[in-house]
Amino acid sequence: MADKKLNDVPENLNEEYYQINPDILGSFSKYRPPLDIFRFRDEVARIEPYYRVGERLSNEKVEELANLVREGYIFVSRRDHPVYVKHISYQLDLVLVDKNLKEREIADIFAQALIMRLENFLEQPVKAVFDRLHEDIMVLTEYLWNDIYRYRALIRRLQTEHTLAAHSFNCGILGLAVWIRANADEFKKKEVKRKTFDNVAVGLFIHDMGMCKIPIFLRNKTQTLTRDEQTKILAHPLTGMEMLGKLDLRVKEIEQCVGDHHERMDGSGYPQKTKGTDISQLGRLCAAVDSYCAMVTNRPYAPAKTPAEAAAELSQDEKRYDPRFTRLLQAMVLTGR
Ligand SMILES: [Fe+2]
Ligand SMILES: [Fe+2]
Repeated sequence: MADKKLNDVPENLNEEYYQINPDILGSFSKYRPPLDIFRFRDEVARIEPYYRVGERLSNEKVEELANLVREGYIFVSRRDHPVYVKHISYQLDLVLVDKNLKEREIADIFAQALIMRLENFLEQPVKAVFDRLHEDIMVLTEYLWNDIYRYRALIRRLQTEHTLAAHSFNCGILGLAVWIRANADEFKKKEVKRKTFDNVAVGLFIHDMGMCKIPIFLRNKTQTLTRDEQTKILAHPLTGMEMLGKLDLRVKEIEQCVGDHHERMDGSGYPQKTKGTDISQLGRLCAAVDSYCAMVTNRPYAPAKTPAEAAAELSQDEKRYDPRFTRLLQAMVLTGR
């Protein structure tokens, strides 16, 4: 049976409810779905409650529900969005099949899923945990590949708290957005390789993974660092590079993000003190985005700057940051696009 289209039901319904599809239903607990379920009744052109959280569905009802979903009669309330987001974030690939989610709802789901995966990975940076993060980043690149300007809803979901996972999420999303803008012509001419796009995304999300080896108290220390502590912090790009080897991730784009994001155009950065265009292009992009994301967050040792202030400061600092990327970033921050 063909899927029932949303326009077969009253217009305003879509505002209050989402029609759910068989894949999404299949991902719920079979007898105890995690949220209220509603049924659309043709005869009366009305939505009515079908199942309430806390109840248990009988075998007959489970079967009936599966049929009703296939026929397009089953809805959940948009008021249950938080439950739905949480649920779907564990099986992120479902966002690619759900045609009824709005772009901003999808952005919430990506934020929830990626931050959770990043937290897990940064706590336990081993291959098995990385694979889960990688799968979700691939869902994101698939989503963006189908329409690169979808990044616009995503950059409205940047996090404000100061944690390594939130910072990594912000740099991943904003970095990809800047990379997309920087390569807009290549995208138009279909010259961008999907593999490159995927690798860039991974690199941006995990650029700071060397930091997870540094104790939190040291990352957040407000007093001046001792020499020894400073050496530890300055080593994080190299620590990250070593970790890439262990994770079997020796990929050009990933190495450039991890290894080069603290290099500066005038050679004042670290760990190699590379200068100008000797620094990889992606490393220069990651440097600008990384500094921006840090500047707009309230850190234990410095208050947050406004997005406009931070972006302006970076684009004036041409000695240290590549103006090509700081200007793109500034334009994006000022216009929100
Ligand atoms: Fe870093
Ligand atoms: Fe960073």
